[in-house]
Amino acid sequence: MLRAKIIGTGSYLPKKVMTNHDLEKLVDTSDEWIMTRTGIRERRIADKKEASSDLGIKAAREALANAGLKASDLELILVATATPDMIFPSTAAYVQHGLGAGNAAAMDISAVCTGFIFGLSIAEQYIKTGRYKTILVVGTEIMSRILDWTDRKTCVLFGDGAGAAIIQGSEDESGILSTHIYTDGSYADFLLAPGSGTRHGYGSAAQGDKSNCIHMKGNETFKVAVNFMSKVAREALESNGLASEDIDLFIPHQANQRIIEAIAKKLGVPSEKVFMNLHKYGNTSAASVPIALDEALRENRIKRGDLVLIVAFGGGLTWGASLIRW
Ligand code: UT7
Repeated sequence: MLRAKIIGTGSYLPKKVMTNHDLEKLVDTSDEWIMTRTGIRERRIADKKEASSDLGIKAAREALANAGLKASDLELILVATATPDMIFPSTAAYVQHGLGAGNAAAMDISAVCTGFIFGLSIAEQYIKTGRYKTILVVGTEIMSRILDWTDRKTCVLFGDGAGAAIIQGSEDESGILSTHIYTDGSYADFLLAPGSGTRHGYGSAAQGDKSNCIHMKGNETFKVAVNFMSKVAREALESNGLASEDIDLFIPHQANQRIIEAIAKKLGVPSEKVFMNLHKYGNTSAASVPIALDEALRENRIKRGDLVLIVAFGGGLTWGASLIRW
């Protein structure tokens, strides 16, 4: 059976670096607290002129170049973002136009930090049915625009960036073995940005209201994140008749080093097989997994034939995993 295969990746990180020491000047925090509780040292902040689609276009151009394809080859564009350019049209429409990908249908995916894996799952189905041959999945976020810069519990955690992957069919053993996605809306109040919608009305952010910003129950989210991600990772392994010893590289959502270490411990994956770059970028939400995947490839951490496990977790709550034979 035809498998969906990632044939090229790309990423883009805005130039501006904000360190923990910069944050010490904004809120009552310390580099020591942020490092020990999260593992984050610095994050990138997008320029005022940049929107999420601008970051996504740059990551997508790199992914197309790596795949040796042209924008006109794309048939579908899926953009995962929690920070869209605007309410509508979709950020994907701007990415499509910016790339010059006139042959592609384009749509956004709203699954917050799990958005890239949701996108991968949709791409996988379209490839398997033969409906589309070449699909672009992008995760792009400007989290800095929806942070309350007076709330030390959230503003130290997130950063901006974009990652992208090109998916095509594969006739051999390589490709996505399976993707598993979940949502439980009963946890919606754990992690949300309630403003700018039909529930609470529009335009409040411009008036200095904090309702558009991220609100999070950190401790509660931490616990369910560890449980849900390790459970879905196990499900991905078991459904393919594989075990954690078979994993060559584990690429988890880059939210918190302690969350990542707890999942790796539960799964029995040794630290040398766990990819982490959150010290440089913080939590970039939907962009986190594709940026990490792109970096892991560029650092030659993934070889042909390797088994790669990606897993993520985010607002919704949503969570998911994908097992990929490289
Ligand atoms: O993509 C998924 C997104 N969500 C997440 O990844 C969130 C998951 N949760 C977490 O990562 C952690 O719960 C946090 C990093 C958010 C918080 O870490 P924690 O170890 O759970 O700390 P805490 O919330 O229990 O707070 C401990 C103390 C509190 O002070 P008191 O009440 O003990 O006096 C906080 O007020 O640390 C204080 N605190 C801070 N101190 C310095 C909270 N944030 C900060 C801060 N700097 N930035």
